[in-house]
Amino acid sequence: MLEPIHTIGVLTSGGDAPGMNAAVRAVVRAALSQGLSVRGIRRGYHGLLREEIIDMTGRDVADTIQRGGTILQTARSEQMRTPEGQLKAAGILKKYGIQVLVVIGGDGSFAGAQTLTEYGIKVIGIPGTIDLDIACTEYTIGFDTAANTAMEAIDKIRDTATSHERCSIVEVMGRDAGYLALWCGIANGAECILLPEDHGYDENKIVEDILENRRRGKKHYIIINAEGVGDSINLAKKIEERTGVETRATILGYLQRGGSPTVKDRVYASIMGVKAVDLIMQGKMNRVVGYKGGEYIDFDINDALKMNKEIPDYQVEVAKIL
Ligand code: F6P
Repeated sequence: MLEPIHTIGVLTSGGDAPGMNAAVRAVVRAALSQGLSVRGIRRGYHGLLREEIIDMTGRDVADTIQRGGTILQTARSEQMRTPEGQLKAAGILKKYGIQVLVVIGGDGSFAGAQTLTEYGIKVIGIPGTIDLDIACTEYTIGFDTAANTAMEAIDKIRDTATSHERCSIVEVMGRDAGYLALWCGIANGAECILLPEDHGYDENKIVEDILENRRRGKKHYIIINAEGVGDSINLAKKIEERTGVETRATILGYLQRGGSPTVKDRVYASIMGVKAVDLIMQGKMNRVVGYKGGEYIDFDINDALKMNKEIPDYQVEVAKIL
């Protein structure tokens, strides 16, 4: 027999991502409409361990769908990686009557949620990260906004690179994954994209390509470098020395994580938030929500965390052709 659910909790964890507020809003409103009580946990697992727990009403999430960041705040918690922290977190959730915890975040946040299931807490994961590096889903909340933000910034860098006839290296976020770099590379028509998945790049080839482009009269050369490759400042120095072409490096950094979410991030995050509550109402627990092949789906959290994700070869090919 299904245990009747009356109270759920929701938190955002790890790096913030535009669209997280749309997901929180959807979870809160969908749950309230089903007669559930909702407790918001501030500052992710870090706040949970400090009992930063508030009751949430529909009004608490009004005027939030268009806002970047997360109204619940977020944090990275070292304590939650320890068995003592996990046991304490489960105890606090029980103390506050939270039967199901909805976790909006990335793989690390889901790993924390998975450990809670071992202490009898039910969980639902919603993928939220600008890195797009969660294996069970083709969409993660925030990627679309971050890619658009980076694309606009790179367009601006291209203007000045062209005026000065420079080479520009632009480093985008993504941790160990190259999705943001690949998408920006295609969207910005970059001459070169460096991906962590490509395992090392050929500096000689880049130098030759820059010189060849110069001979053909091209006024700029844009290299999109993934954070997982890094070392952009050094690379710029080396390229300038070897080509004689003035080279500048720009690390876009945290600006990619902020800003008002795009329509895609608002809508997909809203649907995923409602789906999380639907799963709870159906008694489908310990699931991670995903999006694949045009459909919103869900996976067992243990299976989801075992999956691997590869950067799509065809997209890499497309970038090379163009
Ligand atoms: O996971 C999102 C992300 O922005 C990554 O792209 C980046 O590597 C990391 O978070 C930065 O984390 P922090 O905010 O802890 O510096």
